[in-house]
Amino acid sequence: MPSLNEIRSTFLSYFERNGHKVVESSPLVPRNDPTLMFANSGMVQFKNLFTGVEHRDYKRATTAQKCVRAGGKHNDLDNVGYTARHHTFFEMLGNFSFGDYFKEQAIPFAWELLTRDFDIPAERLLVTVYHTDDEAAAIWKKVAGLPDDRIIRIPTNDNFWQMGDTGPCGPCTEIFFDHGDHIWGGPPGSKDEDGDRFIEIWNLVFMQYEQFDDGTRRDLSAQSIDTGMGLERIGALLQGKHDNYDTDLMRALIEASANATSSEPDGPGNVHHRVIADHLRSTSFLIADGVMPSNEGRGYVLRRIMRRAMRHAHLLGAKDPVMHRLVPALVTQMGAAYPELGRAQALIEETLVLEETRFIQTLDRGLRLLDDELARLPEGAPLPGAAAFRLYDTYGFPLDLTQDALREQGRGVDVAGFDAAMAEQKAKARAAWTGSGEAKEARIWFELSERIAPTEFLGYDTEVAEGQVMALVVDGRAVDSLPEGGEGWMVVNQTPFYGESGGQVGDSGTYLKPDGAGAVIDTQKMPGGLFAHKVRPEKAVLCMGDALELRVDHARRGAIRASHSATHLLHEALRQTLGDHVAQKGSLNAPDRLRFDFSHAKAMSAEELATVESEVNAFIRQNSAVETRIMTPDDARAIGAQALFGEKYGDEVRVVSMGRAATGKGHDGNTWSIELCGGTHVRQTGDIGQFLILSENASAAGVRRIEAITGQDAITDIRKHLLILDRLTLDLGCLPEEMSARVSSLKKEKRALETEVASLRRELAMAGPGGAAPETRQVGGVPFFAQVLSGVSGKDLPPLIDEHKARLGSGAVLLIAEAGGKAAVAAGVTDDLTGKLSAVDLVRAAVAELGGKGGGGRPDMAQGGGKDSTNAEAAIKAAQAVLGS
Ligand code: ALA
Repeated sequence: MPSLNEIRSTFLSYFERNGHKVVESSPLVPRNDPTLMFANSGMVQFKNLFTGVEHRDYKRATTAQKCVRAGGKHNDLDNVGYTARHHTFFEMLGNFSFGDYFKEQAIPFAWELLTRDFDIPAERLLVTVYHTDDEAAAIWKKVAGLPDDRIIRIPTNDNFWQMGDTGPCGPCTEIFFDHGDHIWGGPPGSKDEDGDRFIEIWNLVFMQYEQFDDGTRRDLSAQSIDTGMGLERIGALLQGKHDNYDTDLMRALIEASANATSSEPDGPGNVHHRVIADHLRSTSFLIADGVMPSNEGRGYVLRRIMRRAMRHAHLLGAKDPVMHRLVPALVTQMGAAYPELGRAQALIEETLVLEETRFIQTLDRGLRLLDDELARLPEGAPLPGAAAFRLYDTYGFPLDLTQDALREQGRGVDVAGFDAAMAEQKAKARAAWTGSGEAKEARIWFELSERIAPTEFLGYDTEVAEGQVMALVVDGRAVDSLPEGGEGWMVVNQTPFYGESGGQVGDSGTYLKPDGAGAVIDTQKMPGGLFAHKVRPEKAVLCMGDALELRVDHARRGAIRASHSATHLLHEALRQTLGDHVAQKGSLNAPDRLRFDFSHAKAMSAEELATVESEVNAFIRQNSAVETRIMTPDDARAIGAQALFGEKYGDEVRVVSMGRAATGKGHDGNTWSIELCGGTHVRQTGDIGQFLILSENASAAGVRRIEAITGQDAITDIRKHLLILDRLTLDLGCLPEEMSARVSSLKKEKRALETEVASLRRELAMAGPGGAAPETRQVGGVPFFAQVLSGVSGKDLPPLIDEHKARLGSGAVLLIAEAGGKAAVAAGVTDDLTGKLSAVDLVRAAVAELGGKGGGGRPDMAQGGGKDSTNAEAAIKAAQAVLGS
């Protein structure tokens, strides 16, 4: 009897043998479809290949695709546990042709695999075709030799497959297995078709059209094939079972559930085990694909599934968390085919423990409230909506959990009353809201958050995803479109773009749509969990409802991740080096730099900075994995997570850990840095590359600020400084380590030389050109010395004037110097003569001849300037005239 794992392999290798590429399952959260909550069939990842938007290097593919049907169009949650074939998680086996083969080949492939490789007796098989599809009917007749009464024509949508309201679609043919007349039921299309005797096992879709949301349809340029066969169904059939939950894989999980709850697998608790087995799979695979329990969107679907499973464990008598104990059994069964399960095992287990611990605290009280309510109701009456809402609001009972609990008693819930109670609560919240200073701008976001669900952030796991435009805002007003070249804010239902928060800047990048493109300049978080993307359409108008491919600027995001992770390492290194008083006071994580403000009273020493920097770099080189967990704030604090004082945290927090240390924090006591953080981080610390502190300054009283860079920027900066050092080494002719002493001694030498040069200059000047100074003349009875100097600047003149005055004892001096294209003039009069003579007059007279103006000083010493010294002789004469001649 083949196991499910073997059946999966047989399927994939059959198609591989027939020229198909074996492609990995895509993640459960679709990257390429903004309208789908979860991958719900094998073709989702190939959607754009069918419509011709995308091309790959293969035209035939085969997959085993992880699927979840627990929200949106295909939702099987309510039935799981109670029926033989409903699952929230299942695997869909499929083969695909992208404009390669069509019906004539798809039908023989299916027939051969079923009847030869799987050895299913042909007489147990029958098929349906779309009522107008004569071609498919003829191929079945020819290939399988099926008689007309086993090729049933169906006129309904059962034989026309659509992924959703829009997208590729086409007629299909379904293959059924007859489990035998000991089971009640009729063939498809008959009045007894809902019975369990004839079971659909494989659906072959002939992709021919694309459906648009205005109801129109166009022919696809190439005809393609999409098929889907539930592994659990074919598994049951090949293992001779009628119930999917009796297959080897599901059975192993049911037995694990029975063991963990010390109950019989097949006793009265069987339904509970089935629910648990199924929900364990969807829960674990969703967490492995990045979904975390929350109160919105996908996270809420996960939470509903988890809580439903936990209630069933509770019904089996479990008092403590149970689900996490089943994860190893799942990994044993499915870890080889889906390695992501093993990689995420610890995260799955922790998330389950956390959710179950919290839910158990309110489960008992909620169930008591439910019992009290029911005791007051007449037999069979539905539970009032207000009571269901209280269970939801106070005890965390999702509506479907309450419905599931009542189902066993044949009761329903007043869903309209539940919705009304929910609406009333929202109205109260609205009334309580008061606008702040930016009320006008904020008002639009508040209004939008009333009618639009919070944006789902996909950017922890992907940088490319599709999103649908839910709102466009220009100048605080909602608009229907943004013109090419215009600018405004855009809200989408889901996005890979990080909205600025927690010190991390918002992402930028681009968006694409079939006929257009534009820039995403910035991303901000708005009230109500909406992400506002500042956009500029560059090609084509951007409209409400557009489906966009959103692409985060990868290099920029990579640099931001590095900055943010380096900030965490820096924070811890500062605490270790300076002490526990270090607390974060602010931070900026940008692509080109990081800034970290922290409490510390005095400037850090060079040694402290060096220690901190090298500690951070040691953890970067360690290249250990960066881990993210979701916990309660209390649990996070208990393992030593750094949180911002006074910050309000929700019920659950993201906890980012990095670095391995001999003595550290965390459950294992070996984690270096643990922080509450909603930001995006590197996968491995090594991705930061390098860390370099640029500066450390005071930013406010008692607060220091470190600025630093990472990665290539740090290396470029270091390289730049090394080049400077290299040049200096050559210029100074010494080793870098001798450079400081060399510069000191050069400075000393320079000072000595300057003194020497100054005194030589003075001597030279005193001596005059050619070594002979001019004669001192007697002018008007006053000894007068006048000289023209070269190579001497204006500032050298006053000391020379003083020396000449000293030499003369009594008299007047005039010096004219030319340097740097200008003439400088200085005059001096000895003190005994200042009563009748002023140096100022001498200077003014000389300056006028030299093409200058003015001149000033004191009677004993004055200075002025002229254009040049060509007229120096005339200037001397003019001064002489002042003395009398
Ligand atoms: N996409 C088709 C299905 O899900 C094969 O049934």
